[in-house]
Amino acid sequence: MKPAGSGALCDLPAFGRWDFGGFGYGLEPLILPAVGDPDGPAEAVPAEDYVESCRCLAAFGERGLLTPEVQPCESREELFWFRWLTGHQVCFVVWRLIAQLVDDLSRGRRSADEVLPQISRYVDGYSAMLLYTGSCPPDLYNVLIRPSMRLRHRAFSGAWAPDYWPIRDLFRRRRLPGLAETDAGELLDAIALLHLIHDGVAARLVPNGRSLLREAAVSGPGHRPAGLIYDSYFTTLRAPVPRHEVVAQLLRRLVAIARDVSANGLYAAGDADERPAELQRAEVIKCENGLVDILLGVAQQACGLPSQPLPTFRTSLAEE
Ligand code: HEM
Repeated sequence: MKPAGSGALCDLPAFGRWDFGGFGYGLEPLILPAVGDPDGPAEAVPAEDYVESCRCLAAFGERGLLTPEVQPCESREELFWFRWLTGHQVCFVVWRLIAQLVDDLSRGRRSADEVLPQISRYVDGYSAMLLYTGSCPPDLYNVLIRPSMRLRHRAFSGAWAPDYWPIRDLFRRRRLPGLAETDAGELLDAIALLHLIHDGVAARLVPNGRSLLREAAVSGPGHRPAGLIYDSYFTTLRAPVPRHEVVAQLLRRLVAIARDVSANGLYAAGDADERPAELQRAEVIKCENGLVDILLGVAQQACGLPSQPLPTFRTSLAEE
């Protein structure tokens, strides 16, 4: 595969072969513009190319479908390392897409009616990615993944994620500029669900709930070094990248993830039973069962294609 002008790997995914990372469950670096920088000028991508990639994703939404070229992963370490890195990279793209919509809204470029359902759909994509990245068996998380972050920095934290900074206020205070709460019920439900899932994943993987940041006896680095450490751990580079290459990198990952889930299931055998109360809630189970459909919705929206109505797994969590 030839990299595009920006250096990003962005051939659109197609039927019939695992084409991500060069081999089954291989990794790819992600290249995104610096946080707050606009996308580079986009080239028009024929709608049929996007439709084809989304069809490919949709095929894996059918439970139990296993095409011969997608073999289950033989190594637990390789599988959950792939999930940890690739799932986080998808979050970074989704956070960037949310931040752009929030910016459009606050600058009056787009209306709330247009933007709110789209943000909600991306927030659901983030929730699905929390379940996916957090599906690691707790023992493996504690001997492989957590130590790898601790070795990068003793206080390594999700709070250092550069693409999260522009939307942190939205997720923490659950407010959008110029909008009354009543206008944003669907979005508030989506945000409540993602907090529930984040808490559940944290409780499952680290039963005392103490993050590395909270356990560290050292203070964190400054804002910029923290972002660099975080990006480099998740093999994410910053360079001017046009919109269609951002979207292509997202699609490559979503299709690889759908292939993975269809071949390996979400949880390792026996692990699904050990879930904390948060992850046993009906809304969470529905998000888990609809994971590939949610990813399809994210893909269609990012490509500017019409998408199915939102699944109804979000009830009124925001009021609890
Ligand atoms: C599954 C993938 C995960 C993702 C994508 C993720 C993402 C994030 C993000 C973006 C923040 C910043 C929130 C803010 O500043 O408002 C954060 C904070 C936090 N996360 Fe996670 N998280 C994940 C897993 C975990 C796990 C396994 C734990 C278990 C301890 C955890 C515990 C925390 C805590 C305690 C914070 C508060 C800041 C800190 O103490 O580091 N998260 N997470």
